Amino acid sequence: MKPNFLRNKKPLFKDKLFITRPNLPSMGELKPKIETMLKSRWVTNFGDFHNKFAGRLEDMLEVKHVIPCCNATIALFLLMKALDLKGRVITTPFTFPATIHAIHMAGLEPLFCDIDPDSYTLDVDEVRRHLTPRVSAILAVNVFGNACDVVSLDRIRAEEKIPVVYDSAHSLCTYHKKRPIGGFGTAEVFSFHATKLFTTLEGGAITTNDDDLYRKLKLMINFGIQDEEHVVEVGLNAKMPEMNAIFGLIGLEKIKKIIDKLACLNAIYKKRLSGIPGIKFQKIREGCRTNNQYMAIEIIPEDFGLTRDMVHRVLKEDNVIARKYFFPVGYSYDCYKGMDFARGIRLPNTEKVSSRILCLPVYYSLDAKDVEKICDLIESIYVCRKEIARKLK
Ligand SMILES: Cc1ncc(COP(=O)(O)O)c(C=O)c1O
Repeated sequence: MKPNFLRNKKPLFKDKLFITRPNLPSMGELKPKIETMLKSRWVTNFGDFHNKFAGRLEDMLEVKHVIPCCNATIALFLLMKALDLKGRVITTPFTFPATIHAIHMAGLEPLFCDIDPDSYTLDVDEVRRHLTPRVSAILAVNVFGNACDVVSLDRIRAEEKIPVVYDSAHSLCTYHKKRPIGGFGTAEVFSFHATKLFTTLEGGAITTNDDDLYRKLKLMINFGIQDEEHVVEVGLNAKMPEMNAIFGLIGLEKIKKIIDKLACLNAIYKKRLSGIPGIKFQKIREGCRTNNQYMAIEIIPEDFGLTRDMVHRVLKEDNVIARKYFFPVGYSYDCYKGMDFARGIRLPNTEKVSSRILCLPVYYSLDAKDVEKICDLIESIYVCRKEIARKLK
């Protein structure tokens, strides 16, 4: 069947399919835990559920310390502050605004390096080229559940004696050579936002093996208060409440099932779409086992016959709401216009990927049959590419 864009009748899907939907516990699962919380009247400030949740994550991520937080953005900001950095922080422009805002809001200057065009992670040779005495840290992103070149970045960390931290918002349950993402670099930050494969509604966590950094951040997420009479750090309120930890504890029980399902859905996409000219998949780095949280494809216009924006528009008419994720890139945000660190920057790989990228629906409650239907639709968009292009002119 032709895409609805050409038929102008009923969309293929009655309801909108977004790229993600939250995995939420049932009322039955929540009730006893919420009752315990209400009975205790301890609803935040490092309660039992919070502490249990932190402990479970420490075991799962094989890391010494986990600090649950209110969200990943504030966690990244506080981490930047806690590291006592100055000057520039090398980062990727191919990320969510939170990564770059955290650097900027901490009074630091993002120094953008280009990405590897296949894995979309920071190009480590580029990182090396940008190292100067003004660079005080590297904030890399384990993007779409793909691990960065953690070995090379670790080497840079040791040689340059600067912190390397990871925005691992997308990468819970991603592994590098059997080691879970979470214990690499100086520290890592996860997001448990409702859009992620694992959610505490809003939420996130900082993970680290560094005892001093842990102690400092633990204070900084609670106004810097050490005890009744001492405020020893400049901090914020970034604690995770008990209710969110309850969602987290229930969610952790199901995480394996979720990961397995996402792997199946992504395998269908890969099998069905890999034969279509002009569709390219993100390359998962050697040694990395992805969590399959995203299905990111590139539309190569010269081969597919349509641009990414055209495909995005046509999918919408059938209620498939794909995302141009990440577009715009970090140095092109309106809010950074005119700022020195963003001025005149053109990074070819980043711009190419950002102009071609499209994230497709993938989440636990998505039916495999619906993934097949999305693939049929993309196939049909390719078959009808000339007619679509004419109509879009
Ligand atoms: C790469 C990246 N970093 C940080 C964040 C921010 O996470 P949060 O919503 O938990 O603040 C996101 C959110 O999607 C993200 O994609």
